[in-house]
Amino acid sequence: MLEKLKKHWGVKSVDLVLIITTFALGGSLCGYAGRQLLLWTGLERGLVWIVFYIILITLLWPVCVLLISYPLGQFGFFRKYVAKIGRKVIGRHRRKSPVRMAIFASGAGSNAERIINHFAGSEEVEVSLVVCNNPSAGVLGIAQKAGIPTLLIEKDIFLNGSHYLPELQQAGIRFIVLAGFLWKIPQALISAYPQKIVNIHPALLPKYGGKGMYGHFVHEAVIAAGEKESGITIHYVDELYDHGQIIFQAKCPVTDKDTPDTLAHKIHELEHAHYPGEIGSLLQKQNPR
Ligand code: GAR
Repeated sequence: MLEKLKKHWGVKSVDLVLIITTFALGGSLCGYAGRQLLLWTGLERGLVWIVFYIILITLLWPVCVLLISYPLGQFGFFRKYVAKIGRKVIGRHRRKSPVRMAIFASGAGSNAERIINHFAGSEEVEVSLVVCNNPSAGVLGIAQKAGIPTLLIEKDIFLNGSHYLPELQQAGIRFIVLAGFLWKIPQALISAYPQKIVNIHPALLPKYGGKGMYGHFVHEAVIAAGEKESGITIHYVDELYDHGQIIFQAKCPVTDKDTPDTLAHKIHELEHAHYPGEIGSLLQKQNPR
């Protein structure tokens, strides 16, 4: 049962304990607050009291669990959980189910974090899975905090085995976003997700792309070549590195004073400003309501 819950919510054992504790403490706090409020009204116990009590605890429950979840470090999980329940209770039925999206990332995950925050609470898009090839990547902690299931992948299976296609299909993934993911996407995944995989590259493609051109290697090459501008490219993924159709580009100046680190900072700012919104626009175009 507990193992099932862990898998369903994509959390570690320690988080599961904290989530269950939050449910218990939040529920008790909510019941206590409801009774105190009714005591204050002076209402006699009876049918009316019960009706008011049910209404009160329904309204107080989300506030109480969110309050308790904060010090227990589970706010991200409960924010999503409460939003989901809220949509069901209020009955705002979606015309279509949200597009379930997977983010593939290998590193710190600052882009993944912006994308997760951008779509938190969205009815159109749900970040349903974070796929990672590096057990010590920061992005795993970001996903866990946000209550998003993670999938740690192995090179052999990804490139030569099942490519994790069954896992992606089982999670209902309809769109894939690469955010600092360093392995080449196998042909089988590209065929299974035609025009449904996008990548962000930290330079103005077609320049400074290709195998080995990632992260600071890109910025070092841009500075060594004496470029006066660099930027970001969002593009569809095809079978070649950094090659698919370009969707969006934005530029920033490169000055004589820039180092690979300062340029990386400028590029990250551009990425954070544009990537989540461009993904949203693209998904809206691909899935008009
Ligand atoms: C980003 O700058 C992204 O453009 C780059 O890795 C960084 C990941 O940062 N991707 C590539 O170089 C792919 N060729 P993040 O982990 O903080 O999002």
